[in-house]
Amino acid sequence: MTLAESVRTQLERVLHEQRQRERLESHGFAPISRLLLVGPPGTGKSMSAAMLARELSLPLFTVRLDGLISRFMGQTASKLRLVFDAAARNRAVYLFDEFDAIGAERRIEGDVGEARRILNSFLLFLDEARPESLVVAATNHAAILDGALFRRFDAVITYDVPSAEQAIEVLRRRLTSMNTAEVDWDDLMGHVGDLSHAELVRAGEIAAKDAILAGDDSLSTLALRSALDARRAARHG
Ligand SMILES: Nc1ncnc2c1ncn2[C@@H]1O[C@H](COP(=O)(O)OP(=O)(O)OP(=O)(O)O)[C@@H](O)[C@H]1O
Ligand SMILES: [Mg+2]
Repeated sequence: MTLAESVRTQLERVLHEQRQRERLESHGFAPISRLLLVGPPGTGKSMSAAMLARELSLPLFTVRLDGLISRFMGQTASKLRLVFDAAARNRAVYLFDEFDAIGAERRIEGDVGEARRILNSFLLFLDEARPESLVVAATNHAAILDGALFRRFDAVITYDVPSAEQAIEVLRRRLTSMNTAEVDWDDLMGHVGDLSHAELVRAGEIAAKDAILAGDDSLSTLALRSALDARRAARHG
C-alpha cells in the first residue's frame, strides 16, 4: 500500500502494541484496540483494516452499518448485539464501515429512540471490547460523529488523497506487470490532480488493459495521461 508517512507510523504502532500486548498487560496497560479511520473514499481505510488482520493473522469481519440500519429498521440494536456477542468470544479484526451512519441521527428519520439505542449499544460495546480484538470504524465524515462516540477510540487516523509523488507510486505499483520503460512519470505528475488511490488504480488498469488488448504490453505516457484526465473529468462532471 502507498500511505502517508504519518498513517504508516500509526498503523505500525498498532501492530507493535498488539504483538506485544502481553508485555503491556503485565504492567497494567492495554494495547491500542479501538481505531477510527477517517478520510475520503478510496484512500485505503478498508484496505488498512485488511492489512492489520493479515499482519496479525486474525480473521476480518466487516459490518456495513448503513446497510444494517436500513435493513433492520427497528431492530438494528439487537442485530448489532449479535455481532458484539460474537466479538466478545472471538479474537479478530472487526471493521464497521460507513460508521457515520451511527452518529447521524437525522438519517433514521422518525425514530430517534432507535438511533439512541444503536448509539448506546455501540458505546457499551466499545467499552466492553476485549483489547485483544481490534475494532476498526471507518468513515468519510468524522464531523458528524457523536462526541461520546469519538472519545471512545484509542486512536484516530486521518487519511487523505495522495500527494503527486505518492500518486505516481500508486500507479507504478499497479503497473509492475507492464513495460513502463517509456513512461514519463514527471509529466504524469501534472495529471494526477486530487485523484484518490482507488481512482488512480482504476485509471492505471484501464490504460494497461487497453494496451494489452491492443496486443502490446508497453504503456505510453499519452495513454496514461488520457486515462488520468478521463478520471478527473468524470469526477468533476
Ligand atoms: N493507500 C493505498 N495504496 C494503494 N492502493 C490503494 C490505497 N487506497 C486504496 N487503494 C486502492 O483502492 C481500492 C479501494 O480502497 P479502500 O476500499 O481501502 O478505500 P476506502 O478508504 O475504504 O474507501 P471508502 O471510504 O469508499 O470505503 C483498493 O482496493 C486499492 O485498489
Ligand atoms: Mg472502505
